[in-house]
Amino acid sequence: MRTQIRLNEADMPRQWYNLAADLPVPPQPPLGPDGKPVSPDMLRAIFPDALIEQEMSTRRWIDIPREVLEILAKWRPSPLHRALSLEKYLNTPAKIYYKNESVSPGGSHKLNTAVAQAWYNKQAGVKHLTTETGAGQWGCALAFAGAQLGLDVTVFMVRVSFDQKPYRKMMMQVWGADCIASPSERTRAGREVLAKTPDTPGSLGIAISEAVEAAISDPTKSTRYSLGSVLNHVMLHQTIIGLETKKQLALVGVDKPDVVIGCAGGGSNFAGISFPFVHDKIGGADIRIIPVEPSSCPTLTKGPFLYDLGDFSGMTPLLPMYTLGHTFVPAPIHAGGLRYHGMAPLVSQATRLGLMEPLAVGQTECFTSALAFARTEGIIVAPETSHAVAAAIREANRAREEGKEKVILFNLSGHGIIDLKGYDMFMKGELTDYELPVEEIEKNLKSLKDFPKPAPLPV
Ligand SMILES: Cc1ncc(COP(=O)(O)O)c(C=O)c1O
Repeated sequence: MRTQIRLNEADMPRQWYNLAADLPVPPQPPLGPDGKPVSPDMLRAIFPDALIEQEMSTRRWIDIPREVLEILAKWRPSPLHRALSLEKYLNTPAKIYYKNESVSPGGSHKLNTAVAQAWYNKQAGVKHLTTETGAGQWGCALAFAGAQLGLDVTVFMVRVSFDQKPYRKMMMQVWGADCIASPSERTRAGREVLAKTPDTPGSLGIAISEAVEAAISDPTKSTRYSLGSVLNHVMLHQTIIGLETKKQLALVGVDKPDVVIGCAGGGSNFAGISFPFVHDKIGGADIRIIPVEPSSCPTLTKGPFLYDLGDFSGMTPLLPMYTLGHTFVPAPIHAGGLRYHGMAPLVSQATRLGLMEPLAVGQTECFTSALAFARTEGIIVAPETSHAVAAAIREANRAREEGKEKVILFNLSGHGIIDLKGYDMFMKGELTDYELPVEEIEKNLKSLKDFPKPAPLPV
């Protein structure tokens, strides 16, 4: 029985998969402040042309540049593991597989798109990148990519994580990036929030506003903005995860998984593991696909599908997505990377079309599951990833109750060995669950009432 399924470097996928080519009803376009679809010109102030083209592309396969593959090959192809010890512990007839993205230098999947984005920016003559980060994983990823490709990087880090996770800030500094707590005094957006709520824990929405403002206000025009999730081109770059996994499952004779699971913040690691299987599902394969989110930030399970801003103060276009409202500041849970009010338009559209079965889980169940995983499989997963582990364990328990030998696949999006504070608080009994009340969601959605509404699905 193989516990690790590895591919050779030569077997790395040479193309990314674009789900936009195959969705039965494509997502509606992002809209500008005038309510009209955004043109490539409007995006040029923040992104290079090649990424704008990918953002709007409906081509099914897009070539991965050779230099990007060379950098990814420092840790890719990542291993697929069979979780034999966890299966035994759960006494389940299910076969549990996990794709291990924690082996990257930054410890998560985020480097897959960071390298690609930094490379396309470099080709376009960009010198400096700005970004936001929640848990710090994305900031680390872009800092790493900047170091590889010779670009300066400035990261606005959500304050609650900046305080809870000082080691991520240090990692960014090791890779040469500048890391600032958000909201900050450096931008108008940050100063406005601080004036109203000086004690705010911050949010990804606020940090995005700061990073976009910092990019577009560079007088030398050599700065661009980079986003770690949500947008179509980010989902695209992450599909290397699922494409490798397909080859690895074939090596052990698994034709298709029965269930595919990923935690979902902005949607990128979930898209990465699942989109190549969504392709098969659209083609008729019987696969359940489950994005897992925190019950304190239940975008897909409790938010409506609307046009909303991607950030707090309106620097981004309006995106068609499930949302809790761009003014929503989620509770300061330890899975900082899942504290985002919206969800990737491609993940949202696939959910709307009934291709996904979203699930919300509370943080105590997630940490209970993460402890079981660490004590059986050994890896201490990131608090974000613990949501995927919790869902995989639920599915494995269900398989035992039903007496079914199904194949469960989940994405281990990152390790948590420098996120131990959440584990510590959980083990001391200091963590509680927080279910977001419907009234709170309704209150935040008021700010969207004048935005254009997405067209209903054709019947
Ligand atoms: C380890 C890890 N997993 C998951 C996420 C959630 O992001 P996404 O939904 O884009 O994969 C993050 C975000 O910071 C993360 O650091």
